[in-house]
Amino acid sequence: MQSVEKAAGGRVVILGCGGTIAGRAESDQDTVGYRAAEIGVDVLVAAVPALRALPLEAEQVAQVDSKDMTPAIWQQLAARVAFHLARPEVAGVVVTHGTDTLEETAYFLHRVLAPSKPLVLTAAMRPATALMADGPQNLLDAVTLARHPGARGVLAVIGGEVYPGGELRKVHSRRLRAFSAGDAGPLGRIDDGRFERWRDWPAGVGLGLPAIAAAAAKWPRVEIVTNHAGADGRIVDALLAQGGVDAIVFAGTGNGTLALGLEAAALRAVAAGVPVLRASRCGWGPVLGGNAALPAAGALSVAQARVELLLRCLISAQGDRTG
Ligand code: SIN
Repeated sequence: MQSVEKAAGGRVVILGCGGTIAGRAESDQDTVGYRAAEIGVDVLVAAVPALRALPLEAEQVAQVDSKDMTPAIWQQLAARVAFHLARPEVAGVVVTHGTDTLEETAYFLHRVLAPSKPLVLTAAMRPATALMADGPQNLLDAVTLARHPGARGVLAVIGGEVYPGGELRKVHSRRLRAFSAGDAGPLGRIDDGRFERWRDWPAGVGLGLPAIAAAAAKWPRVEIVTNHAGADGRIVDALLAQGGVDAIVFAGTGNGTLALGLEAAALRAVAAGVPVLRASRCGWGPVLGGNAALPAAGALSVAQARVELLLRCLISAQGDRTG
């Protein structure tokens, strides 16, 4: 499938969450020692001349380095996105965010909202003060996509490439094109305001805001345990002995494999009623098959598998309360 169209009209709401796109450094040469999440979203929007003539609104939802992202902010963000997307005059919503946990936020919003209008996340690898800042172009591309006729679902655009939000992975620590969508590749790309689409829009039915409403009191505790040379099960046993762990993601080697001692401990966790998912510490590729008692995470990254278990714990806790 391929389509190339010019952007159309429609109001876009831009929700700021912080990140390097809102980062500031002392020098325009500094793309390492900057502080993320310092510049307000209204200033980011005002810095892009091409956005001035468009019907836009900007709202600051959070101002964090995304390494410090929390489920509470996700909940607040999901509520603001849902509010704005429900407004008939709003064509789409853009979220400015840090790159480091962008894949988690994108997956969370995809699973909770799966909106029928476009929800476009964007970010930057260089701070706003850099000589060759990438944020302004990424923001312009995100608005272009949010106004694109027929666009829908959670999307991410960075470095001109458009990704389905639910499949996003950060795969490089420094490059401007730091993301991938796994083997299926990007959904499309934007060049000079022209959007070319290669894959279907994201599909799926969102769990809905009520599914996460009760979490405000206490978010489930989902830990990640990594397999490695010499790994054994002591971390898992310590988690079980400590109590309070609601689920565990295993970041396995290769196709989600675990060392014998760690696998035995993972089975003890399952026997103790702790749900698990087996993902891969490889940057790319799915986990298929393996020990059926330790379910494979499929195409989810380790971080996305953690979000998936978080949501499953919430849903199952809700079932327990209503059942
Ligand atoms: C962050 O994730 O907030 C900092 C790093 C970045 O945005 O690239």
